[in-house]
Amino acid sequence: MPHIAAVINGTGSFVPQRRLTNADLEKMVDTSDEWIVQRTGIRERRIAAADESTGTLALEAAQRALEAAQLSAEKLDMIIVATLTPETPTPSTACWLHENLRVGHPLAAFDLGAACSGFVYGLATAAQFIGNGSCRNILVVGAETLSRVVDYQDRGTCILFGDGAGAAVISAVENSPRGVRAFELGSDGKGGALLNIPAGGSRTPTSAESVQNRLHYLKMNGREVYKFAVHQMTTCLQRAMAACQLAPQDVRLVVPHQMNQRIIDSATEKMGFPKEKVFINIDRYGNTSAASVPLALDEAVRQGRCGPGDWIILVAFGAGLTWASATVRL
Ligand code: UT7
Repeated sequence: MPHIAAVINGTGSFVPQRRLTNADLEKMVDTSDEWIVQRTGIRERRIAAADESTGTLALEAAQRALEAAQLSAEKLDMIIVATLTPETPTPSTACWLHENLRVGHPLAAFDLGAACSGFVYGLATAAQFIGNGSCRNILVVGAETLSRVVDYQDRGTCILFGDGAGAAVISAVENSPRGVRAFELGSDGKGGALLNIPAGGSRTPTSAESVQNRLHYLKMNGREVYKFAVHQMTTCLQRAMAACQLAPQDVRLVVPHQMNQRIIDSATEKMGFPKEKVFINIDRYGNTSAASVPLALDEAVRQGRCGPGDWIILVAFGAGLTWASATVRL
């Protein structure tokens, strides 16, 4: 049997029009533009309009990825949507997307829950189905409307998060050096309470009381998550390079989850990556969780920061706690 590579064949992204700037946040909570920029690198984020949702953002990003891949939706064999803010608790956002992309035939479609690591988890999952010959074309999307679960009275979280979507079409190519060449997926449930949404699930179903106590909003122990993130991102980068015997000079671009500029700088500097090899768009979008890596990847590709033949490393971590990396030859 020939080796089947899982190649990133096209990318797309989409963000809502409305900007929420640091100056806007200064009017909502006790914070300042200076504090936010210094501590996080974020200047503004996008916020979904009332008639937008995770599905509609995902749809736009998916259509752009299909267009870039020059593939019609009818050719898809599977849809994976990574999100922590699904269209509805059930059915999945992936099923909604299947209908709205007008795929026209039944296929496997499911949502994937790995928080900010979700897109990289989805990419690694897609690579398995491509590699074993059961699928030819898989759409992997990361999409979020975090503004629907962020508490705009909590300055520790509301300054960080934003809405957006990114997507990639992963296609089978026989005997190619391109494709997803290595990946690492990990989790440690011990850190679950550090970053969570306490209510709205089966443990604490929605009730008047849960809403009144603001338990449907995202809660985070920022300092603890920060420490974990720096350590995990450094380790992940190291292993991602080792898996393909790469040194920083062999890698064209690191596309990290955009969670905090300081975390990204600290981990990539430790691993010997110069600034121009690290893609950053956190200043314009903040942290968009599962959408963050594909949104950054799509911008990087469209800006010519990486292209066919280049080695890139995708790296993410998030609630769970989860982490993931993928070493990819574009
Ligand atoms: O996708 C993964 C998701 N999460 C992350 O990656 C988040 C990781 N954590 C972080 O990015 C950082 O921990 C934060 C940006 C959330 C916070 O930055 P920090 O440097 O860790 O600040 P801190 O929590 O240690 O707080 C320092 C001070 C505190 O005041 P005191 O106790 O020293 O008087 C906070 O109350 O800053 C205060 N503070 C703020 N001040 C102005 C916290 N949030 C704000 C704010 N504006 N928005």
